[in-house]
Amino acid sequence: MMDKENTYKRLVKQISALLEGENDAISVMANVSAAIHETTKFFWVGFYIWKDGALRLGPFQGSVACTTIPEGRGVCGTAYLERRTIIVPDVELFPGHIACSNQSRSEIVVPILDCDESVKAVLDIDSTEQSTFNETDRLYLEQIAALVSPHI
Ligand code: SME
Repeated sequence: MMDKENTYKRLVKQISALLEGENDAISVMANVSAAIHETTKFFWVGFYIWKDGALRLGPFQGSVACTTIPEGRGVCGTAYLERRTIIVPDVELFPGHIACSNQSRSEIVVPILDCDESVKAVLDIDSTEQSTFNETDRLYLEQIAALVSPHI
């Protein structure tokens, strides 16, 4: 991305517009993952939804991914359990990382919190390069997560 900050600012505006009046969770997550993917060109962008005691693969853009992730497993399950954003500069150094694709080198997972602070889904983004994600990604992706939450 040439200018991360400006790219994310535009993306936040686009996503706010996309969300207006929309309350079908699958439709919302489908379009949000498409908007992020189209703008950022990150390798994999998608949602895992907390359902029946595990994280289940939701709408995404990218290659085939693992269907079910238990609480506490991998980056997604850890972000779920700890209810916080996790940035992984090198997936090979993250204990228990779940390799859905061997092209994935770094990753960020942002929890989507309900109003009672429970996690209803996580937004997972993977890059084919190491150390892609930093505090700028965290800031704007957490904003996007907060925007999306009331619509899913
Ligand atoms: N790497 C993730 C699993 C999901 S895929 O990257 C799409 C993890 O460790 O939780």
